[in-house]
Amino acid sequence: MSELHDQFNRPLRDLRISVTDRCNFRCPYCMPKEVFGAGYAFLRDPQLMTLGELTRIVRAFRALGVEKVRLTGGEPLLRADVPELIRALKQEVGVPEVALTTNGWLLEKLAPALRAAGLDRLNVSVDSLDDTTAGKLNGLGFSVTRVLRGIDAAAALGFPIKINCVVQRGVNDGEVLTLCEYFRARGHSLRFIEFMDVGNTNHWSVDGVVPARELVERIGAVWPLEAAGPAYRGEVAARYRYRDGRGEIGLISSVTEPFCRDCHRARLSADGKLYTCLFASLGWDVLGCLRSGADAAGLENFLARVWGGRLDRYSDERAGLLAAGEARAKVEMSYIGG
Ligand code: GTP
Ligand code: 5AD
Ligand code: SF4
Ligand code: SF4
Repeated sequence: MSELHDQFNRPLRDLRISVTDRCNFRCPYCMPKEVFGAGYAFLRDPQLMTLGELTRIVRAFRALGVEKVRLTGGEPLLRADVPELIRALKQEVGVPEVALTTNGWLLEKLAPALRAAGLDRLNVSVDSLDDTTAGKLNGLGFSVTRVLRGIDAAAALGFPIKINCVVQRGVNDGEVLTLCEYFRARGHSLRFIEFMDVGNTNHWSVDGVVPARELVERIGAVWPLEAAGPAYRGEVAARYRYRDGRGEIGLISSVTEPFCRDCHRARLSADGKLYTCLFASLGWDVLGCLRSGADAAGLENFLARVWGGRLDRYSDERAGLLAAGEARAKVEMSYIGG
């Protein structure tokens, strides 16, 4: 396997693939419904990577060192061929770890097919256990009960599960302890994510960010915590174990404690563009390269050139850019896959 590194000596290890830019939720921090309404220009089917194209593209990434593939969206479970894609990535391409990030709405129904296809693990978003707040946070008034049933169904099938919770001050930060209690009782790692300035439409303000440090102190005051090392190099979440031995939490602190130094993630949008940062403005047209006739070696060459030139470290630079008033157009999170 070749030793590919970017300009800061970061290897390419993870690939996050957005399989669709559509979602059945309208979380205001990601797809505010005023923007992503009836008139929004979502990608059309011919623009999406097909299963065969995805398989060929992932094979090229694999040759360059990718070990983990995460399927995201939008909402990945809206795409009917996801189980088939997982099977192809596991069996034909031989990806060691295939994971999926979902809002959980379709999980109860689809968990058995995902298990049978060979999916290794799941990350499910739960921002609130209270239906009124959950309904506001999914933008459509949907109850969280169905998501929780989906999580139980997936756990019963043996999936390792992590829960993602985006914390916003004055919105759901009062629920942090309740969430900890609920998920540690069920053995799932709960990760609190700092509200990020992704995309251009989510009305982000630093006032909405609850620093990870503050949460560790609040939770630790009730159930003492101890820092645990990363489960793998460059893990996005900083992990803490409960000292009573009953589980762990994670903190994803992209705003207050950026982790660009170890970032080895590439992102592929549903229309096959490669983005080397979550906050990038421009992507590289991998699908175009494939559709214009590139063979496996040509594709690998293209990807290696992009990664080799990579200089991204947006979260490290954020404070400076904001202070200098340098707003830049960014891709939307639902398009690039978080
Ligand atoms: P694991 O493989 O379980 O460690 O998952 P993950 O945390 O990498 O993936 P997940 O899709 O669950 O993402 C959780 C949160 O971390 C989301 O809000 C992502 O947007 C954020 N995240 C993941 N990777 C990056 C990154 O490279 N930079 C930034 N700023 N945020 C990231
Ligand atoms: N800030 C932080 N996390 C976000 N996510 C979506 N939008 C944002 C944002 N603005 C999270 C989702 C999901 C993960 C893929 O990204 O809640 O858990
Ligand atoms: Fe959909 Fe996830 Fe974005 Fe919410 S955060 S709108 S569930 S893609
Ligand atoms: Fe990686 Fe960009 Fe996130 Fe930094 S901001 S960790 S470079 S994706």
